[in-house]
Amino acid sequence: MMQIDSRSRISDIRNTSEPDNLDTATLQAAPDAGFDTLRRSSEQGAEAFRQPVAELTIVVPTYAERDNIAELVRRLTTVLAGIDWEVVFVDDDSPDGTSALAKSIASADPHVRCIRRVGRRGLSGACIEGILSSSSPIVAVMDADLQHDETLLPPMLKAIQTGADLVVASRYIAGGSAAQGFSGIRRWGSGLATGMARILTGTQVSDPMSGFFMIRREAIEDHAEALAGEGYKVLLDILWTAGKSLKIVELSYRFRERRRGESKLDALVTIDYLGLLFSKLLGGVLPVRFLMFGAVGASGIAVHLLVLGYALSTLHLSFEWSQFTAVIVAMTWNFVINNRLTYRDARLSGWRFVRGLVMFYLACSIGSVGNVGVASWIYSFHEAAWLAALAGAIIGAVFNYAVSSALIWKRK
Ligand code: GDD
Ligand code: MN
Repeated sequence: MMQIDSRSRISDIRNTSEPDNLDTATLQAAPDAGFDTLRRSSEQGAEAFRQPVAELTIVVPTYAERDNIAELVRRLTTVLAGIDWEVVFVDDDSPDGTSALAKSIASADPHVRCIRRVGRRGLSGACIEGILSSSSPIVAVMDADLQHDETLLPPMLKAIQTGADLVVASRYIAGGSAAQGFSGIRRWGSGLATGMARILTGTQVSDPMSGFFMIRREAIEDHAEALAGEGYKVLLDILWTAGKSLKIVELSYRFRERRRGESKLDALVTIDYLGLLFSKLLGGVLPVRFLMFGAVGASGIAVHLLVLGYALSTLHLSFEWSQFTAVIVAMTWNFVINNRLTYRDARLSGWRFVRGLVMFYLACSIGSVGNVGVASWIYSFHEAAWLAALAGAIIGAVFNYAVSSALIWKRK
């Protein structure tokens, strides 16, 4: 299915836009001419100016990388001399003005584009959006912070041109290394995650978590709807969704240390990654965020029971007071963890935190009324307590999740 003859496509496109000379006479005449002439002449002008589509688009997700992008463009320009390329920065409205800088570079350099996304955060989503914005037959994804070795791009391109569908730049095959780029806990998490990913996706790729790869664009276009687009592991997502149909090549590189700015990924990405695994295992029907919300809710039940036991047996409170305390502590726990984890891309602080917490208490209260209502209703005609309770809990959770996503942690 991947037998796409990209070379002939490129030459087709080139042929249609070969530089016929711009008809300056028509353009000059245009201002005085009627609307039709004006339109026709501007169409001819566009035809004359249209650039052939680049052979390679490099998608670079950015968040607060102002100090790195000019240097990255310089390096790409050097290393890709002789190749028809473009770079697309996909910036999530970084507060440091990364997108403004990228656009000012773009205004002078036709190799550069920038997509500024407002009110959204997320590495995978940014990568997919950048890829889908491209018309090139071949796309690469790499980080902005110069940790990925740009000199690997020409050999990666060569591998695609000679038949590969996907080329993964790997830290973990002979010749590659992860250097000191990672803290101990992340190295451990990364090793564990890599092993699990290999088993679950059935691919032999040594570095399924790599943020540096090149792929035929059609391979993504064909599967765009099945990709989760959440979290940080876009390559894993691609491997999972399309891996079996792709001819994959791995090339080694040394993961460099970041010199400017700081990493946006922390130990929490391992949890995020487990969310992606579960979501994929369940066929992608439930969003990663909902699964995380559910997992946090489950941990809240444990917290509830612990507090309840402590209040009853150690503090000797009445059952009512113990239960009340446990409910408040568990709701607060859920709120704090969701704020830190599930909705960390829309994290609340200061007054917004307090306001969010109050809203969360309210939402949970309404959710639990719904929970009890549905459970009692089901129990009234079907005396299976577990079924009634489960249905009630699901209704409550879905309600809380909907309110949380739409009202409490809404992204502006
Ligand atoms: N648009 C957008 N939105 N970009 C983001 C976001 C976001 O929410 N978060 C991070 N980025 C960008 C960063 O600006 C950077 O260019 C790139 O994504 C990687 O982020 P880092 O914060 O530098 O991640 P890392 O170095 O810890 O890990 C990277 O390299 C690993 C090895 O290849 C990631 O690519 C990992 O996925 C990868 O495993
Ligand atoms: Mn990095």
